[in-house]
Amino acid sequence: MLIAKSIAEIREALEPYRRSGKRVGFVPTMGALHAGHLSLCDVTAARSDVVVASVFINPTQFNNPNDLAAYPYDLDRDARMLESEGVSLLFAPTKELMYGADFESWVELQKLPTLWEGAHRPGHFRGVSTVVSMLFNIVQPQVAAFGEKDFQQLRIIEQMAHDLHLPIEILRAPIIREPDGLAMSSRNVRLSSSGRKKAIAISAGLFAARDAFQHGESTAASLTELAGQGVRALDGVEVEYIAVVEEQNLLEQSEARAGHRILCAVVVDGVRLIDNLRL
Ligand code: PAF
Repeated sequence: MLIAKSIAEIREALEPYRRSGKRVGFVPTMGALHAGHLSLCDVTAARSDVVVASVFINPTQFNNPNDLAAYPYDLDRDARMLESEGVSLLFAPTKELMYGADFESWVELQKLPTLWEGAHRPGHFRGVSTVVSMLFNIVQPQVAAFGEKDFQQLRIIEQMAHDLHLPIEILRAPIIREPDGLAMSSRNVRLSSSGRKKAIAISAGLFAARDAFQHGESTAASLTELAGQGVRALDGVEVEYIAVVEEQNLLEQSEARAGHRILCAVVVDGVRLIDNLRL
């Protein structure tokens, strides 16, 4: 697998594929890869002829400098994992390459980023939409995959691709869960062993709410109450939000319908985790 550190290198490596009409698939990541990321590669591979991944810890999407400083970086490990998943090219730029000293162009959506994660992490989605636009311009893929675990991010990228008429098909990759239900995330390694046990209550609550919905409960307040019961009973756990939302605009609903999502953000012993489930 070629690891390209410059824009010229990645473009040159992609040129033969483009010339022979191959479909380029793209998986942007910030590294610290786990099985969830590898599933993005599989989803992309199924719809393209060559898969390109990127590893770039994007500084502009961290609203907390401690989070950025603590973010793990091991490019060799990530490259080995990507290669064994069939990824052909890896783009791993530096911060200086992506954000020149005179950088001043941002990509910012108006409504979706003000909700949920955006309300708790000011500026986060501006950083995400900006860096994903840059990466799209550099790699120029025909398809790109994003995980449903970060559902609001996925919706923002879909909306951006639609609004800016980007010729890129955005693929949704389902959440990959640990056997006990915890959604896979690069943050899970930060959980202590007791925090890890507590975190199971997050997905258990979402599954309980979905069961109740399937058995006829449609009042959103009852479903979110049920979803939060287990986590609220635990010490050291703080619920930031649990809400039933419409999938497209992410607006909160008072009456749940099939196809709505239940979204949540919970802080477990200082580690902020998000999860969601489609009803
Ligand atoms: O989901 C992520 O890992 C990041 O937000 C992304 C999409 C790679 C942009 O930096």
